[in-house]
Amino acid sequence: MSALFQPFALRALSLPNRVVVSPMCQYSAVDGCATDWHLVHWGQLLQSGAGLVFVEATAVAPEGRISPSDLGCYDDATERALAATLQRARAVAPPARVALQLAHAGRKASSAAPWVGGRVAPGHGGWTPVAPSPLPFADDDPVPRALDAAGLAGVRAAFADAARRGVRAGVDAIEVHCAHGYLLHEFLSPLSNRRDDAWGGSFDGRVRFPLEVFDAVRAAVPEHVPVGVRISATDWVDGGWSLEESVALAQRLKTRGCDFVDVSSGGLSPAQKIDVRPGYQVPFARAIRTATGLPTIAVGLITQARQAEAIVAGGEADLVALARGFLWNPRWLWHAAAELGGQLTPPAQYGRAAPRGATQALARGS
Ligand SMILES: Cc1cc2nc3c(=O)[nH]c(=O)nc-3n(C[C@H](O)[C@H](O)[C@H](O)COP(=O)(O)O)c2cc1C
Repeated sequence: MSALFQPFALRALSLPNRVVVSPMCQYSAVDGCATDWHLVHWGQLLQSGAGLVFVEATAVAPEGRISPSDLGCYDDATERALAATLQRARAVAPPARVALQLAHAGRKASSAAPWVGGRVAPGHGGWTPVAPSPLPFADDDPVPRALDAAGLAGVRAAFADAARRGVRAGVDAIEVHCAHGYLLHEFLSPLSNRRDDAWGGSFDGRVRFPLEVFDAVRAAVPEHVPVGVRISATDWVDGGWSLEESVALAQRLKTRGCDFVDVSSGGLSPAQKIDVRPGYQVPFARAIRTATGLPTIAVGLITQARQAEAIVAGGEADLVALARGFLWNPRWLWHAAAELGGQLTPPAQYGRAAPRGATQALARGS
């Protein structure tokens, strides 16, 4: 019996298997609104059979977008576009569970799409980014404006409001993005947070704002909706945010009702030295799961069905997420089902897709 194809529950949300489509920015929104690109992109990912499908990093405020073409969920227009596009994408797939990753890009905001590169200057469609401290990501990046207490209150309220809007738009779970060098990670790391007020300095000070945001989001959504957090378990820089601090943060999140930790790494500093190899972030998920008992998502260079199976079967993580693997092959999970003896329910129209020898992988179409 494949461990990957066993169900899992996050609060009232029942996942039919342990595979997650990881959030992936598409830089294809217009004024924060989802477009036809999202319709097709989400449609194909929702057809994948994954237990949970993440919508990309979705900005809680216009100035929290990584690029001017980021998806947002910060006003009536962006909420309407998210709701309508999601509803249409869901109509071409079997019942699917969708999570929304809420994000604020902090000092990395006002960048161009990666295929363009560089930053977008104020006056040319860009804006001055905000951060815990006036420290740029790289030396030649713009110096961000440090958030004052009123600014922090605004960001906190924006996360809560976006969570409320996301649930109204039909998502089943929320993830607070505290990873990859964006605003909340910038508060956690001593490399980017040099504040001398209550939101900086010691571990307690640095985790304060991300925990306040988590509390605000948790309080904004109904009890049955799972709320988790994505963290970078380490900055991969000496003197930066560490795995030990990640474990301590996860312990605090657990007491506040966090439902899962999605364990990534890096992205805060150009000085990072990452030891990239298959499953390289899995040990971080395992450490957090072991220390806290919180459900964890392992992610990063998980590409093979048997590799994913071993992570879940071995108790290293409860769920495994793939990003590039699903872009490369949106039917990754169908093939994994055939290889591991699992079963999925495809859209009825594709019910006859499986070749001889793999027909048990696809149950009768819905
Ligand atoms: C095109 C692309 C866009 C991404 N956008 C996001 C994002 O919106 N939020 C996020 O937390 N991570 C993002 N990531 C990181 C992935 O979610 C994932 O953690 C990373 O790619 C490692 O997993 P993989 O080896 O399966 O690709 C992105 C990755 C890719 C390739």
